[in-house]
Amino acid sequence: MTPSYPVMRPDDLDAVVEAEQRCHEFPWTRGNFADSLAAGHGAWLAREDGRMTGYAVMMRAPDESHLLNITILPDLQRGGRGSALLAYLFEEARTWGAARMLLEVRPGNASGLALYRRNGFAEIGRRRDYYPARAGREDAIVMAREL
Ligand SMILES: CC(C)(COP(=O)(O)OP(=O)(O)OC[C@H]1O[C@@H](n2cnc3c(N)ncnc32)[C@H](O)[C@@H]1OP(=O)(O)O)[C@@H](O)C(=O)NCCC(=O)NCCS
Repeated sequence: MTPSYPVMRPDDLDAVVEAEQRCHEFPWTRGNFADSLAAGHGAWLAREDGRMTGYAVMMRAPDESHLLNITILPDLQRGGRGSALLAYLFEEARTWGAARMLLEVRPGNASGLALYRRNGFAEIGRRRDYYPARAGREDAIVMAREL
């Protein structure tokens, strides 16, 4: 089934927020998604056969795009959908004129790190105490990929 990547709309937020809570230990709130849409960030659903399979949010900067969220529903992971959604985001970012894509990822997020490494991202630094964690805060690994 060929996926489609329609733009995320406010009407989609019930489904997105419900999925977000199942997919992340520290999920974005509805307000985080609503603020992203209001700010004009790029936000897309991934759909197959009328079903939402995942979603992504990406921020524009002058020469860069910043990937803020990429999620594939748990029962559909490891089927190549995360890589396909990333490839779509690379194309979108290029149409904005971005020369590279940046992101942050938790050091403990094995699937995220593996997805990004597999798709050409390399670590370029760390941000200390970037994320809330179970005990205190957790650093972020900053990764980048040329587009
Ligand atoms: C990260 C995520 C988007 C990956 O989506 P996916 O559809 O499973 O990714 P793919 O199937 O395209 O995987 C691509 C490669 O990444 C690696 N990978 C993905 N998940 C992995 C895991 N759990 N363990 C080890 N490697 C993994 C593998 O190398 C995989 O290729 P392979 O299956 O051929 O070995 C998905 O696991 C997810 O939504 N996780 C929860 C949300 C999250 O952490 N998002 C990232 C931070 S916002």
